[in-house]
Amino acid sequence: MSKHKNLILVGFMGTGKTAVGKGVARALGFTFVDSDDIIEQKAGKTISCIFAEDGEPHFRDLETDAIRSLALLDRHVVATGGGCVQRDENWEAMRRAGLVVCLAARPEVIFERTRQETHRPLLQTRDPMARIRELLDRRAPFYTRADHTIDTSDLTVDEVVARLLDVWKKANA
Ligand code: S3P
Repeated sequence: MSKHKNLILVGFMGTGKTAVGKGVARALGFTFVDSDDIIEQKAGKTISCIFAEDGEPHFRDLETDAIRSLALLDRHVVATGGGCVQRDENWEAMRRAGLVVCLAARPEVIFERTRQETHRPLLQTRDPMARIRELLDRRAPFYTRADHTIDTSDLTVDEVVARLLDVWKKANA
């Protein structure tokens, strides 16, 4: 019987939450879920549409609803959206749901990993690098609240998965 029901991944966009989360879920025999997918399914539209049509504050409320629903899960690995760490009530819900681990990366690495992608409204700007730095600065104090942090900048997905499995085992020992 493990101490934690689920493994919750937080961290900035492009730190590897989805790729790593899927790998860890496979290794543990858990189900992978992405909080952005929960939001999109419930809203019936993409995150980009929600930002464009309803605005970021509305997206954040939908995100809090999705994170609150994580309490119902068992044996899941959850990748959360990069900005959910900014609300205290999201932290309360995440801690109730499981062990919270933060994936981190250097701004240059985040830029390289996200530059070809178009599904993240906050990075659809003329100067994504400046936006990444600004958001990272603002969010840094929130990411440090996680139980553990792994810097993924110089690691492969498999290497991060191995480290996370180690953290999971130790936290449940
Ligand atoms: C966001 C991160 C995104 C998504 C939305 C806002 C953020 O999720 O929730 O675009 O504020 O950092 P990922 O971290 O999975 O890209």
